Amino acid sequence: MTAREWVIVNPGGSRRVVVTKELPGARWLQLLTAADCRVEIAQGDEVLSEAELQAAIGERCDAAIGQLTESWGAPLLETLKAAGGALYSQYAVGYDNVDVAAATRLGLPVGNTPGVLTETTAQLAVALTFAAARRLAEGDRLMRAGEYHGWLPGMLLGSLLYRGILGIIGAGRIGAAYAHMMVEGHKMDLLYFDVRPNAELEAYVADYAAFLLAHGEQPVTCRRTETLEELLGACDVVSIHATLTEQTQHLIGAPELAAMKEAAVLVNASRGPLVDEAALAAHCRAHPRFRAGLDVYEDEPAMAPGLAELDNLVLVPHLGSATTFTREGMATLAAANVAAILKGWPVWRAVGGLEDVAPFLDDPEPPHAAPSIVNAAELSLPRLAGPAPTKEDLQ
Ligand code: DGY
Repeated sequence: MTAREWVIVNPGGSRRVVVTKELPGARWLQLLTAADCRVEIAQGDEVLSEAELQAAIGERCDAAIGQLTESWGAPLLETLKAAGGALYSQYAVGYDNVDVAAATRLGLPVGNTPGVLTETTAQLAVALTFAAARRLAEGDRLMRAGEYHGWLPGMLLGSLLYRGILGIIGAGRIGAAYAHMMVEGHKMDLLYFDVRPNAELEAYVADYAAFLLAHGEQPVTCRRTETLEELLGACDVVSIHATLTEQTQHLIGAPELAAMKEAAVLVNASRGPLVDEAALAAHCRAHPRFRAGLDVYEDEPAMAPGLAELDNLVLVPHLGSATTFTREGMATLAAANVAAILKGWPVWRAVGGLEDVAPFLDDPEPPHAAPSIVNAAELSLPRLAGPAPTKEDLQ
């Protein structure tokens, strides 16, 4: 392995912050420089190994901004704490790669970046839904292969999802945003499966139904199902927006796929291990009319054998949050978490959506608060005045 290169910004800064990947945009570095940080940024695309992360933290490190591709388990967090680390800041909204319980035990806040990914990730799930349903990748391959010999009545027929039944597994921020796009844009009836009811989503769909009725159109409906099986059996599209935990690993396996409609579409833009990839490959092979769109994989960047050969799958490389706006916003929020904790500022009020985090992204003088600390309640960190966070807000 060749030695990792590091770029150092603001070398005279009194606080040492390690950043394990180059991040997009400029604002994040301005925030860290203004907080008197010396910022050390790892160069290159390869994921830093645990040994490299340990070495990078070294004996003195005030904070680290890390990636979802790295494993921030207890040993690494202990090293960070022992080096004087005041927090670990994750450059992502999801943090299943971080041992938050260990961080909490160590008294180490863990930051994440909600608010800026919601619409972007929901949009990618919509794109995957239609890419799969309307067979876009197959059409693209056919064109590039010079195999388009003229319009045919039966060529690459897909599914019209308009007025169909949509199912979402997990009705948190991203799931609800996806549901809005699909229900409003394509007038689908919505079923959702979640341990918690989403009253706001239900009310929104009810209002939209009233709007449709007022315009002489058939209304849409929304209902939370008691069981996952009920949702799977009824829906034309099932999109997964659940958090990865030990309980949700392989939430969709062979029995769940078997419960789905023959020509249904399955979308996963949340976390790969929620779907048993080997079972999905087998199901897609046996059911050519079944389609799936995947953004995430069980063992990224690898894929289960067989997936790549299947035409009824659309596969993209974890692009959920990949817009310039979002990736720059994530960098800003990750840096704002660091700057605020190092300065002893409180935690921002509960983050609900883009409007909540907008001041961090746009204001010349951003709020004196950490945008999102996932274990703020457990660590009894003070919060800026505002609505108290709900459990969902903190996830
Ligand atoms: C996240 O932030 O958790 C996303 O997976 C990144 O795209």
